[in-house]
Amino acid sequence: MSATNHQPRYAHIVGWGMYAPPNVLTNEELAKRVDTSDAWIRERTGIVERRIATKETTASMALHAAQDALEIADVNPKQVDLIIVATSTPDYVFPSTACLVQDQLGASSAAAFDLSAACSGFVYGVAVGANMIRAGQYETVLVIGAETFSKIINWKDRGTCILFGDGAGAVLLRGSPEYGGILSAVLGSDGSGGELLEVPAGGSKNPASLETVMANLHTVRMNGREVYRFATRVMVDATKQALQKANISLDELDMLIPHQANARIIDYAAKALNLPPDKVFQNVERYGNTSAASIPIALVEAIQAQRVNPGDHLVMVGFGAGLTWASCAIEWSQPTIKRQITPQRAAQSQLRYRWANLKSFGHRVLRRVDSGVSKVLDRMEGQNNGKGQ
Ligand code: COA
Repeated sequence: MSATNHQPRYAHIVGWGMYAPPNVLTNEELAKRVDTSDAWIRERTGIVERRIATKETTASMALHAAQDALEIADVNPKQVDLIIVATSTPDYVFPSTACLVQDQLGASSAAAFDLSAACSGFVYGVAVGANMIRAGQYETVLVIGAETFSKIINWKDRGTCILFGDGAGAVLLRGSPEYGGILSAVLGSDGSGGELLEVPAGGSKNPASLETVMANLHTVRMNGREVYRFATRVMVDATKQALQKANISLDELDMLIPHQANARIIDYAAKALNLPPDKVFQNVERYGNTSAASIPIALVEAIQAQRVNPGDHLVMVGFGAGLTWASCAIEWSQPTIKRQITPQRAAQSQLRYRWANLKSFGHRVLRRVDSGVSKVLDRMEGQNNGKGQ
């Protein structure tokens, strides 16, 4: 942690990672479950397949992505000051998924919390993390977007089950006096549109009951048409606003990394912004909408495809339930080629994570033993006091 006085601080993305479950669910397979077709899904959404978690949880996928981000940046987890996990599908209501990741990473100096802004959550998290760095509060912040939407989908509703998938992506932000990194952020919300995309039960208003489960109220409900109208509008406006705040012209934009919800929404935004296809990253066809994970997964794949280079101007832009939207403009500063994790480093890190795991187990055992022994001692003390009276 460090605090600087008057020198401006910048938050740079120095590490990145992603995880997608290997289990693939194709449109054809979906068409066997609900009244739909591969042709319809492709034409209306651009989606061909999505990944579905089997053994994975939101936390385990977040952990994979975070580990890769730390490896790429060559940063020890102990140096992380803050972990933010953007998710609408946490492992538990509490403890937060961020705390589960903190424990498994052995990030013993980190604060940790979950952030709920649906599909805009990752960019919200980047804005919060970057501002913590710019303010001098923290030096190293891990921002993760991770989701298992497959667990909150009504697999009988063809209007929603075709859209979503599971996965995780992460970036490591680090402070530096060098100009660049996250240059602006635009965050927005309009709660009047909350009912357009919601999970009606499971919160404190409609706690889980036999009735809510029978009525499928723990799954996603969506007014697709209205969300589509909202999405096309905010994607364009939020992109322009982020660029304007960062003093970057549209012509200087090298790569748009949009939320991967629907290829038609992305194409609409690209056309309205007059951006050629090579300046707009798209992988929705392979993952569907992975909500808060979609933008970091897209960013990592853009880097892996060598479509992001030092000096490039990027905008990440998302929208989602709430309603919410978020965008940020970036001047990329890190070399992206040759930034691969060597097997030797990966092996060393695995050892470190095993050790963190073991230590965590040790702490749990010790806490239980401590609690048991304390109880016995308290009882003995009580008995002795009773005898003395
Ligand atoms: N397969 C076949 N037909 C389907 C279908 C499916 N999976 N889902 C809906 N349909 C039908 C509808 O029942 C409707 O039939 P009708 O005309 O007989 O009533 C018809 O297709 C058209 O439905 P509509 O909802 O108007 O389709 P659309 O072109 O708007 O596409 C979405 C639907 C969901 C793909 C589109 O609205 C969308 O992408 N919205 C944004 C959703 C989103 O991004 N959500 C996440 C935000 S983070």
